[in-house]
Amino acid sequence: MADHILVERRGTVQIVRMNRVGKKNALTRAMYARMAEAIREGDADPAIRCHVIFGVPGAFSAGNDIADFLAYGTDGERGTESVDFLIALARSEKPLLSGVDGIAVGIGTTINLHCDLTFATPRTVFRAPFLDLGLVPEAGSTLTAPRIMGYQRAFGLFVLGDGFSAEEAKASGLVYAIVGEDELEERTLSAANALAAKPPEALRIARALMRPDCEELVKRIRVESDHIGERLHSAEARAAFSAFLGRKRD
Ligand code: COA
Repeated sequence: MADHILVERRGTVQIVRMNRVGKKNALTRAMYARMAEAIREGDADPAIRCHVIFGVPGAFSAGNDIADFLAYGTDGERGTESVDFLIALARSEKPLLSGVDGIAVGIGTTINLHCDLTFATPRTVFRAPFLDLGLVPEAGSTLTAPRIMGYQRAFGLFVLGDGFSAEEAKASGLVYAIVGEDELEERTLSAANALAAKPPEALRIARALMRPDCEELVKRIRVESDHIGERLHSAEARAAFSAFLGRKRD
């Protein structure tokens, strides 16, 4: 699993790259645990000034691993890794940037609500099919999404389950800039380096003033997670997971 998350430091910028290519970056418990650890370590290290999250070409993330979801519902042992990761994002005191290309489903969409700047490519589609899976929105998105994009757009994306193109996501405030696939990493890292060069204390204060109250966000992440923990056992969720895992393809 070690290779499913790559952590790299480039100067004062820490890059966390989701790298489970064959599964379109569906996120497992071990992947969440490694990402949480990296964010916390980078936050505690004065040599790191900024975090950047990337996926692989064509797949930022296909969301939580659905086989893991089904297993939680069966053995009752959900694990705390995904919540730990989300809390690490919520509590990060350093800028979080993302570069998104292609598939961005579920948590592949909601990670970006924690980011200060998200760059996306024209072929990116954001999708959050929580309701169709019998679940509820996560990652604090019930708090942050209406604030960032307005209630109706948040409801369309996270409850109705409409996919948003990169253009729609930019119009909604979920994306800062749309850039070509070949310049995604360069443009994201260039913004990260510019932020890393700002006076760190002023940056920390400005960020904290502009973002939702951190502990309120953590509380909401936990409340949503409790609901999801219950929903995972529901017949409607288990039927949706089994349908995905048992689907027939040509
Ligand atoms: N959990 C587990 N496995 C997943 C996955 C997920 N969330 N998303 C994709 N995969 C797996 C597929 O089962 C497939 O595995 P296989 O090659 O061993 O059969 C592999 O990743 C590639 O996916 P595939 O569906 O063939 O790619 P695609 O480009 O046709 O479609 C998606 C990509 C993301 C649209 C589609 O895989 C999908 O809808 N995934 C589920 C997304 C989801 O509901 N996530 C949870 C949100 S809360």
